[in-house]
Amino acid sequence: MPKLLHLSCSPRPDSESGAGAQVFLDRFRQLHPDWDIDVADLWRERMPDFAGPILEAKYARMNGQGFSDAQRAGFAEAERMALRLSLADRVLISTPMWNFGVPYKLKQFIDIIVQPGLTFRFDPSQGYVPLLKDRPTLVVLASGSDFSTGMNRGRIDMATPYLREVLRFIGISDVRFVAIGPTTGPRPSVEAARERASKRLAAMAANF
Ligand SMILES: Cc1cc2nc3c(=O)[nH]c(=O)nc-3n(C[C@H](O)[C@H](O)[C@H](O)COP(=O)(O)O)c2cc1C
Repeated sequence: MPKLLHLSCSPRPDSESGAGAQVFLDRFRQLHPDWDIDVADLWRERMPDFAGPILEAKYARMNGQGFSDAQRAGFAEAERMALRLSLADRVLISTPMWNFGVPYKLKQFIDIIVQPGLTFRFDPSQGYVPLLKDRPTLVVLASGSDFSTGMNRGRIDMATPYLREVLRFIGISDVRFVAIGPTTGPRPSVEAARERASKRLAAMAANF
């Protein structure tokens, strides 16, 4: 059964990014009733702190050394999470923008799975080589500000370039972004942004 992995990254029950993802998924499910939708709520998932044996395992790999038992167990956690991503035929990431970037739970997920020998490798002649196969990926990014015309009142969007780059680094280049913003401020602007994003998301579900 083909699988879509949804990384849900907002802790808010009335999340704008979550609502946008829902619009997309409702339409996607209608069109693809046979697909398995695997939801990973990163605020509920058990994710190890990236310290101790799991961190040492990364350095052991980078230095071409073997693992201790504790490091092997730590690395197995990273393998388990990376496998869930690598088995997905499609990926949906719904996330808020927090302090120009992404919430620390999404960053934690990324720090765990971006590992040498797991999602990328280093080759002295080729440089960094991604190890995941490419797959259609959608990022629904909600922000208080409206970044559609660039920087907003001194705030900048670093979430979009960061996610684009880190996904590309591990092999996922087929990434589209749908921004929802402004999500704060005058109601007409908030509603217009939500409406605009919903229309795009429902339409995108048809050819994803
Ligand atoms: C900790 C925190 C940091 C935020 N930082 C930014 C920011 O840098 N830029 C911005 O436009 N909005 C920022 N916001 C506003 C959120 O992006 C906005 O409320 C968005 O709708 C949250 O997504 P969600 O509704 O899916 O949770 C921040 C909100 C929080 C709670």
